[in-house]
Amino acid sequence: MKASSVPGVSGAEDKMRIILLGPPGAGKGTQAKVLAEKLKLTHISTGDILRQNVSKGTQLGKQAIEFMSKGLLVPDELVTKMLTQRFEQPDVRQGFILDGFPRNIRQAQTLDEILKQRNMSIDMVVYLDASEPVIIQRLTGRLVCSACGAIFHTKNMPPKKDMICDNCGGSLYQRADDQVKTIKNRLAVYQKESAGAIQYYEKQKKLHRLDADEEAETVINNIIHLTVQYNDSPKV
Ligand code: AP5
Repeated sequence: MKASSVPGVSGAEDKMRIILLGPPGAGKGTQAKVLAEKLKLTHISTGDILRQNVSKGTQLGKQAIEFMSKGLLVPDELVTKMLTQRFEQPDVRQGFILDGFPRNIRQAQTLDEILKQRNMSIDMVVYLDASEPVIIQRLTGRLVCSACGAIFHTKNMPPKKDMICDNCGGSLYQRADDQVKTIKNRLAVYQKESAGAIQYYEKQKKLHRLDADEEAETVINNIIHLTVQYNDSPKV
């Protein structure tokens, strides 16, 4: 059993391996960044890695953009190859938060295989449940820093200076897939594909549902509470 520790202070939660699941705009990226900092975990976002590949014009980026711009999933084989390479990096050993992967049952099964080969497993899956009107409001107002990736919102989390990142002074931009038509496609794909992954973790008794319509601070406190409960519980 891991010893418990004070919420928000890095310690016994180190090396936790957490998945954040949830629809587009539920707040996975926002919460993953805070959680990674508080618990000193590595944040792995498949969406961020794909967007970096697109902006660098890599072969993967050229293949992925066609799907991303329509709000479709990038084919499993491309994303799992990319994730396998990411798992070769040593920072994964300090524990991680996966954001945006898995998106379907095939990816969930592949993830377990990748982890098994490295003597690792997932500790906890947090499902951030958000309603459609909230999702649309969040995504149509989202701003992202082009330099450090920090996430803002025109109304919910506005930057101090217009279109300038509070953290690094980089310029903010709107993601190309945050147009209403593309958001609706992403939501439809999410509804169709994600059910299998959710059931997969429900069967493993690893899934925890949280109301992600709540304000960001409430959501992060609830996630931290889950990690503390997990670390206090007996492990078999
Ligand atoms: P990805 O980047 O993963 O996008 P997504 O899953 O659609 O999720 P988002 O990043 O849009 O939302 P989020 O939940 O992180 O919300 P955020 O925290 O930013 O993927 C993009 C594309 O890449 C996919 O469509 C697909 O093509 C491809 N892809 C990625 N992974 C793949 C995979 N595994 N397989 C195949 N293809 C893949 O918050 C949103 C806004 O709300 C922000 O402005 C934020 O400030 C605000 N906000 C957040 N929380 C709150 C709150 N509690 N209260 C008020 N405002 C809030």
